[in-house]
Amino acid sequence: MQDGDAILVIEGVRREFDGGSIVALDGVSLSIGRRDLTAVHGPNGSGKSTLLNLMGGLDLPTSGTVSFDGRRSPKPAEWTALRAGTIGIIFQEFNLLPTLTASENVQVAMFGVVPSPAERRDRAIALLDEVGIGHCAGRFPPQLSGGERQRVSIARSLANGPVLLLADEPTSNLDSKAGAALIELLIALWRERGIALVIVTHDRAVLESCARRIGMMDGRVTEDVRG
Ligand SMILES: Nc1ncnc2c1ncn2[C@@H]1O[C@H](COP(=O)(O)OP(=O)(O)O)[C@@H](O)[C@H]1O
Ligand SMILES: [Mg+2]
Repeated sequence: MQDGDAILVIEGVRREFDGGSIVALDGVSLSIGRRDLTAVHGPNGSGKSTLLNLMGGLDLPTSGTVSFDGRRSPKPAEWTALRAGTIGIIFQEFNLLPTLTASENVQVAMFGVVPSPAERRDRAIALLDEVGIGHCAGRFPPQLSGGERQRVSIARSLANGPVLLLADEPTSNLDSKAGAALIELLIALWRERGIALVIVTHDRAVLESCARRIGMMDGRVTEDVRG
C-alpha cells in the first residue's frame, strides 16, 4: 500500500511498561488504509488494547512512530484534537456518563466543536436515529440495555464525523444476539460512511466479516491477512 492511501502508519513500535519489565508491543509495523475494515485478534495480554490505544493517541510508544494521515508522531495535544474531530473510539465498558441522557452523552462530544446548542441537540438525535435508538434519546444509561448503551457510545464516537473508528472488544459485555446486531451496525456504518474501522475482537464470526485480520501474540503481529 502507498502511504498516501493509509490513514495510519505504524513503524517499529515498541511499548514498554514498568521501566521495561513488561513489553506490551515488540516491534509492530503495519498500516491501515482509509477504507479498511480490520479485525485485531489474539489471546489476552497479547497487546491488542495497547495497539488500539496507540492508534488513537491515548498512549504513546516507547520507541517507533505512529503517523496519522501523514502527520508523524503527533504530540498529545494534537492527538486530543484529532480525537475531538477525526478519530472515534468505542470502549468495552461504554464509558457513558450515568447522570446524562443518551442525547446529552452524545452532545458532550460536540462541546467545543459545534457551537450551537440547538445544532448539537439535532445532531445527537440524528446520530441516535442512525444507530437505531432514536426513541431512547431522553433515557439515562441505567435505563438502557447493554446493547442500547453501546449504541449510544457509537453515536457519541460519530459525533464529529470521524474518518477512523476504533472499537476495543465492543461486544464483550453484550449477550451474543445484541453483540451480533452491534457488529452488523458497525459494519453498516463502515460501509455507508466510507471510513476505516478497526475492531479488536475474540469473536470468530466478527473475524469472518472483516476483510483484513491482524493476529497478535506476545506483543507481535503473527498474522496479517486479507480476503
Ligand atoms: N498501563 C499498563 N501498565 C502495565 N502493564 C500494562 C499496562 N497496559 C497493558 N499492560 C500489559 O501489557 C500487556 C498487553 O496488554 P493489553 O494490550 O491490554 O493486551 P490485550 O488487550 O491483548 O489483552 C499485558 O501484559 C498487560 O498486562
Ligand atoms: Mg484488551
